[in-house]
Amino acid sequence: VVSFGGRNLLHDFSTLFQLPAFRYLTERNEPDAVLVMVVRGKRSASTLFLAPIEPRMALYYGTRTVPATSVARTGIPGRPLAELGGVLDSLAATGLPFYDIPDVETMDFAANDTLTRGQQAMKGLARRFPTLTVRDGMRHVLALRAKKSPAELALIRAAAAISSEGHRAAMLTTAPQHEFEVRAALEYEFTRRGAERPAYGSIVGAGINGTTLHYMKASAPVGPGDLVLVDAAAEYRGYAADITRTFPVSGRYTPEQRAIYQLVRDGQDAAERLSQPGMSVRAAADSSVAVRARGLARLGLIDSVHALIDPPWRVDCAANPAPCRQSYLWMIHGISHGIGLAVHDPLQGVGRDAAFQVGDAFTIEPGIYVSTRVLDMLPDTPRNRAFLARVRPVVRRYENTGVRIEDDYIITDKGLERISLVPREIDEIEALMARRRAIQP
Ligand code: GLY
Ligand code: MN
Ligand code: MN
Repeated sequence: VVSFGGRNLLHDFSTLFQLPAFRYLTERNEPDAVLVMVVRGKRSASTLFLAPIEPRMALYYGTRTVPATSVARTGIPGRPLAELGGVLDSLAATGLPFYDIPDVETMDFAANDTLTRGQQAMKGLARRFPTLTVRDGMRHVLALRAKKSPAELALIRAAAAISSEGHRAAMLTTAPQHEFEVRAALEYEFTRRGAERPAYGSIVGAGINGTTLHYMKASAPVGPGDLVLVDAAAEYRGYAADITRTFPVSGRYTPEQRAIYQLVRDGQDAAERLSQPGMSVRAAADSSVAVRARGLARLGLIDSVHALIDPPWRVDCAANPAPCRQSYLWMIHGISHGIGLAVHDPLQGVGRDAAFQVGDAFTIEPGIYVSTRVLDMLPDTPRNRAFLARVRPVVRRYENTGVRIEDDYIITDKGLERISLVPREIDEIEALMARRRAIQP
């Protein structure tokens, strides 16, 4: 089993982003290292191949683990990285199959990059040993990572607790004039409580920016009537939380904002009720979509639950009708994913028939995002023209209302447990924000 770890200093002055698979297998943040595990029968032997740091650089960045200190510091025997090539060649010569764990993040956009250090090494090995069997080791590591151990669950709980305090601080930000003031309040709280860093680029979007799912600039002014969507969480000892709250900067939701917010909350509740051990992951998501779609029809934002448009994306509507429904325009993303060493971590259940299992850690995150710019994307067809003529005035009423509510959960033998504890009901949020008004000068 060969697992290349994260590289240090891809650009100077950046911090190390350890690769989740390497961290899972070694529990270490050692930069530029490679784990080789040799398994014969039931016996396994691991070795860490360690990249030296030259003395002057050690004074800049600190010393690294070296072979002589490896067992004491990592529990795994170490060898110099320079010996890796020879060791891999001699292992290949034995004819044992290799399990390659690609050096990319779990769902990395660069998953097919053939130029990473690990991919290069494995390609070279395959060239030198044309009959070598190289299998996908990532599949197995993902299966292991999907079931969280009690120790991992404790870290995920800690990440969620810290993140929750950050969201409280965001809601309590006094009279923010810009998105970055809200971001500063929440990231201050993460840092002060011992988180290493945000688990992903913090999303703080006011008004129309709240309707861009992954808006990460946090650079715009906040208008007095705006909703602010905050999707942000801390990473704690490698483990990520993932929480979203949407609140009105004024402290009071308008009737239109209330209506959309309550639909999203009801959609989250529907999914929560169906997220129990043994229950279908897909059914939970479907019920959340159904609840929100019925609400969108009541508000007049769609003609009916199953009404169709000609979509602006390429999809075969006969084979896959969901992205061709009007309701899809207002809620285009899925509602759940695992959390762990990666923000999007595996769940134990996979595929259409996946069921929730004890040891799962995951989000439930429905949303609704209304803005006329979605209407402007629709291709000019007879069906779309009829829809647009009717719906445009209604959409204007709800213009730039982006709401997502995202919480974190684990499945224990007692059932579903929510571990992100931030106010999420309209009344709770308004009550918390009223305290903010009281402390304003
Ligand atoms: N923060 C990314 C997500 O919610 O999936
Ligand atoms: Mn999420
Ligand atoms: Mn999120």
